[in-house]
Amino acid sequence: MPRAYLVRKLKLVIFCCIVFILLYGGNILRQAIRDRKCSEEESKFLMDELCHNYSTHAAAGNMCPALCTSKKLKYNKCTNYRGGKKVLIAQCDGVCKESSTVKAVIKSKHPKEEFRFEPLDLEKHANGSLTQMGYKMAHNIFKSMLDSQMLEERDKISDIFSFLWSLDVEQYKRENRELKSAEMTAMQNIWGLINQDEYLFMKVHQKQSFVPKMYGTCGFYYVMEYAPPGDILDPQFFSGSGSSFEERAKIAIDILDIVQSLDYGFYEPVHMCDVKAENFGIGEDQQVKILDSDSLFFHTSMMKNLAQPSCTNHDDCDFFDCRGWCELETGKCTKQRSNNNLQTVCEDILIDKPTNFYAGLLHNPPSEFKEELMPLLEECAYPAHSKGIVRKPTSDDVYWKLHNLLKRIMRES
Ligand SMILES: Nc1ncnc2c1ncn2[C@@H]1O[C@H](COP(=O)(O)OP(=O)(O)OP(=O)(O)O)[C@@H](O)[C@H]1O
Ligand SMILES: *[C@@H]1O[C@H](CO)[C@@H](O)[C@H](O)[C@H]1NC(C)=O
Ligand SMILES: *[C@@H]1O[C@H](CO)[C@@H](O)[C@H](O)[C@H]1NC(C)=O
Repeated sequence: MPRAYLVRKLKLVIFCCIVFILLYGGNILRQAIRDRKCSEEESKFLMDELCHNYSTHAAAGNMCPALCTSKKLKYNKCTNYRGGKKVLIAQCDGVCKESSTVKAVIKSKHPKEEFRFEPLDLEKHANGSLTQMGYKMAHNIFKSMLDSQMLEERDKISDIFSFLWSLDVEQYKRENRELKSAEMTAMQNIWGLINQDEYLFMKVHQKQSFVPKMYGTCGFYYVMEYAPPGDILDPQFFSGSGSSFEERAKIAIDILDIVQSLDYGFYEPVHMCDVKAENFGIGEDQQVKILDSDSLFFHTSMMKNLAQPSCTNHDDCDFFDCRGWCELETGKCTKQRSNNNLQTVCEDILIDKPTNFYAGLLHNPPSEFKEELMPLLEECAYPAHSKGIVRKPTSDDVYWKLHNLLKRIMRES
């Protein structure tokens, strides 16, 4: 073989390798990071520590006996934990769902060393029990946390402490009369929970069908419905999901329904600012659930997030997927979001992104619907032919066209 040919061939191989790394390197790395093993030992240690705290009456909650005494809630394995959030998978025997065994997720977001939230410092008697002032103060603080959740029926809640916790506080006090500070324990446990945004949102909005069920708590840990993203929402990079278009369309419709609920189903619109497929999961009822409610913001607080004091370009005003707008003349961010939930969902979940090698949830539609679906998805993800970072909302008109088309595809194919 001529030498020149070999050299050319070698160059080609190297070129292909470089292209491959450029194209897939990010994805492979991402997968590797995602698969990074969490430490079984650390998780077991945490559960032991939690049960130790239960035995000394520092931790309390409806799930403590199942986790620590009867072992009806059994730690099974951990998933990787990023950002200090612990996500443990457990088996739950009759205490989560009546007379059946289900999987559950035990979660907490507390960096062990530094507790991010203010300690709850309440006025106490010499014997350690709360004074009336202390009690009132706790009530006011917890009430304002509850109010931040914009629950319409919030004024009908008679006992906000018990509403925010997994036990009836008065009953807990009665059953632990021998302890000097049962009430204080209850307050501290509730405080540690409601300072976790995800817990607060999920606990308060249990009536929404896309919120995973909250089974209960123990200490600062909460136990919720197992709703994994599965192969469709979190496909393995090399094997893909092998799912049918109908299966994926059903999930897409559910996600569109969630967008509708967030936009119109709350006292204020709710903004989704970290949109990715693996932050959704399939619940026990086969409905799509939101897994990461940390990134949900009520309109009022969203406007505060977007109102940066100064900017030189629009990027300065962005809050993750919630895009802002810089008023260039004044150099101030306007207090508004320039895109909307629907736009983000279409761009980040539904449509293919060839440049990122991302197959959208609605890839490969049946050929007879392709011509109708593709332009609609395009208009949804990039309204008014937007290029680059989209700063335009997608219209309700597109929402309904897409929703109706997907329903029709489900019926007719
Ligand atoms: N209820 C659940 N059922 C099944 N899996 C879950 C559940 N909650 C979380 N997970 C899994 O754990 C992962 C991390 O959870 P979560 O998103 O709450 O943590 P996070 O630290 O905020 O991660 P990220 O910032 O990447 O979203 C999720 O992407 C999901 O795969
Ligand atoms: C147990 O209590 C200690 C002391 O209050 C605390 O630092 C620790 O985080 C608790 N552990 C768990 C797992 O709740
Ligand atoms: C603690 O002291 C206060 C005031 O002295 C008293 O009212 C309360 O009953 C005491 N509580 C306990 C549990 O002993």
